[in-house]
Amino acid sequence: VPLRGGETVRLVRCVPADAPELGARLWDYWADLGVMPPASWHQRYVERLIEEQGRSRHTFWGQGGGERVGLTVLRLDPDWVQPERLVGYVAEFTVFRPFRRQGWGRRLFRAAGEWFRAQGCGDLELDVLPTNVRAQAFWAAEGFRLAYHRLRLHG
Ligand SMILES: CC(C)(COP(=O)(O)OP(=O)(O)OC[C@H]1O[C@@H](n2cnc3c(N)ncnc32)[C@H](O)[C@@H]1OP(=O)(O)O)[C@@H](O)C(=O)NCCC(=O)NCCS
Repeated sequence: VPLRGGETVRLVRCVPADAPELGARLWDYWADLGVMPPASWHQRYVERLIEEQGRSRHTFWGQGGGERVGLTVLRLDPDWVQPERLVGYVAEFTVFRPFRRQGWGRRLFRAAGEWFRAQGCGDLELDVLPTNVRAQAFWAAEGFRLAYHRLRLHG
């Protein structure tokens, strides 16, 4: 895929008719992350993203050069002490495989950053798996720094 100079990425909201593609894209994404969820969980997650679209989750395609180059799921988390203050959270973020390493990720994140700013968000946060060194390099290049380690005790 040739990189067209000056091409930007536009966020396009996922609609219910997109559910099959969303499911397939997220399935590839779990594979990239190396954490395959149970198929039943995955199916429910896609349904929930569609149900909660525009409420607790904002699911967008990244549209660039007339094609869907990636997808992202964004969240607006009110600060507990100052609920009028919103913290933006990037819940899912992926550039589809043939489009990687051509600057589409940077442009998709730029579009997400503009969307967050338009919603009045200051700080942005996200989780990244300790095994995902590629994404760690990507987020570091975007200016993100390690804020804390989240620990999990499996029950
Ligand atoms: C992480 C990901 C979104 C990056 O998207 P991308 O379109 O390939 O990234 P870009 O081409 O915009 O790269 C921007 C910068 O990030 C860094 N970067 C991106 N991919 C990298 C890699 N494989 N290795 C090292 N640095 C990398 C570089 O600094 C790069 O700038 P450069 O190309 O000028 O060196 C993409 O690899 C992806 O979708 N991975 C699978 C899903 C995933 O891990 N998502 C993140 C979950 S937290």
